[in-house]
Amino acid sequence: MPSFHHIDFEPLGRRGACPANASLLEAAQQLGVALISLCGGAGTCGRCKVRVLSGQVSPPTASEQELLSAKELQEGYRLACQTYALSDLKVHVPPESLSTPQRTQVESQEVAVTPEPLARGYDVRLALPSLADPRADAERVLQALQEQQGVACQSVDIEVLRGFAALRDAEALRVAVRGGEWMAAMPAGTRLLGLAVDLGTTKIAGYLLDLETGGTLASRGMMNPQISYGEDVITRITRTHQNPSEARLMQSLAVEALNQLALELTAEVDAKPEQIVEAVVVGNTAMHHLLLRLPVSQLALAPYVPAVSQALDVKARDVGLRLAAGAYVHLLPNIAGFVGADHVAMLLATELAHADGLVLALDIGTNTEVCLNDHGQMTSVSCASGPAFEGAHITHGMRAATGAIERLRLVDNRVEYQTIDGAPPVGICGSGILDALAQLYLHGVVDRTGRMGEHPRVRQRNGEREFVLVSEEERDGSPAITITQRDVRELQLAKGAMRTGIEALLQAAGKSAEDIERVVIAGAFGSYIDVSSAVIIGMLPALPLERFSQVGNAAGAGARLALLSESKRREAQEIARRVRYIELATVPNFQRLFASCLYLGEINHKDTKTQRNVKS
Ligand code: FES
Repeated sequence: MPSFHHIDFEPLGRRGACPANASLLEAAQQLGVALISLCGGAGTCGRCKVRVLSGQVSPPTASEQELLSAKELQEGYRLACQTYALSDLKVHVPPESLSTPQRTQVESQEVAVTPEPLARGYDVRLALPSLADPRADAERVLQALQEQQGVACQSVDIEVLRGFAALRDAEALRVAVRGGEWMAAMPAGTRLLGLAVDLGTTKIAGYLLDLETGGTLASRGMMNPQISYGEDVITRITRTHQNPSEARLMQSLAVEALNQLALELTAEVDAKPEQIVEAVVVGNTAMHHLLLRLPVSQLALAPYVPAVSQALDVKARDVGLRLAAGAYVHLLPNIAGFVGADHVAMLLATELAHADGLVLALDIGTNTEVCLNDHGQMTSVSCASGPAFEGAHITHGMRAATGAIERLRLVDNRVEYQTIDGAPPVGICGSGILDALAQLYLHGVVDRTGRMGEHPRVRQRNGEREFVLVSEEERDGSPAITITQRDVRELQLAKGAMRTGIEALLQAAGKSAEDIERVVIAGAFGSYIDVSSAVIIGMLPALPLERFSQVGNAAGAGARLALLSESKRREAQEIARRVRYIELATVPNFQRLFASCLYLGEINHKDTKTQRNVKS
């Protein structure tokens, strides 16, 4: 039996030889196909579904028989993590199994700050070396810098000198200086660039900035390739714990993604990654630690201690980034094990620290961080909201890609929907899922407890009720797109977690939801949701809609501010110092509070009245 099989993943056109003992999920990972694998390949999430078009494969496992219908199995659908090639194969990857999003989540508010970057460029004229003037390269440049620009340098990055031969005969140079260190050299007049990155668990957003003008030259988003190793941070942490070599693998995946981003962003403006002299990366504490290859196992265990919380400056090359010779990466401070630099960046960009009155800011994601500023007292919590609103763990959930239902209304027993790109529906993404739950609740199809009742579109399938959003007939015989009773429960858990975080903060401050003067919603999911749907199900407090604002990727905006401005970095450190962190699990009566937040609709404060004045 051959030890390798040739596998062709369509319609992506990714193909190559893969070891015979590798599952199709592992083969996909090796070939750069970003298959969803929520359970990390354990065979329990059912999301790595592919269709074998030709060739021989191993027989279906018990998990596949449980998670796939007989019809699907007959049509060649398999779970990639459970299936092994027995010959060369052609495999079709359906869009809903792919992590590649249509929307890249780079949209955010413009950043307005006077540029005061740490790295600055100075043009100097150089006398060519001669027998009469045989000064060393470093002395020649540093003296010219002092004499012509009045800038004193105390040190030189060794990589600058290693690469200097190519510039030795230049009559003029641009010298990049940061904190008294000569850290890059390039032809005179070259513009110095900076890279700001929001390294999310699911998505990565990158921005290329001109460090002199402060302008954003290009922005781009991509999936975090670590997603093939588990969609949430806990799965990834567990995998690195079980197999330490995976920490190295995950680090290199993230770094290669950032290198790719730098390459694509600079290519867009006819520049090169070597012009990037400074990068700022923000992410949650686990992403931060995985990027720096710091230990992460302790982040998943009480008391969830980070390896470091202060801001860090490291050489880009030490992380594996291919930027200017002596470029630096600045990492904003973390607050706690589950509240990282991305939260600090969000607070920086939204200027929550300067807000008057009672203001709430949420960054909704797989983990939702919530901060309440009560007249200058900032307190944050992290809620394990899970990836349900990103389409995960939902029967027909998918990411915001072509064909995803993104808006939905129930009108006279008809479902009116809108899909991304107007394509035929293939699944339902976060904003659509939220709308669906709100509409089912509003029309009494599900009650306050989340129980699904009778309705012409409700039917019984596989032992549970489901509401048909798009029927088989409407999909020309393809399986119907539904919301099942189990999906409703999953969504209740997600919305319950978020609302619990909000209520815990209000209780700690001795305030009620109606006291909130402003709610700032940031993050991928938060940008696209219909706020009224979130209010209807009780995920957000029932406040007048004008009190809510959706600000897009505020963490990315915060990273850009920190890239451009030294004082903004100091402000970020001050924010991290000022924010008081509450570990939700330590909130008295947490379970009861959580239980009351699971109900749909506005929470009944009678349920939680006895829990007022919760102290952290
Ligand atoms: Fe295959 Fe979860 S079932 S990755």
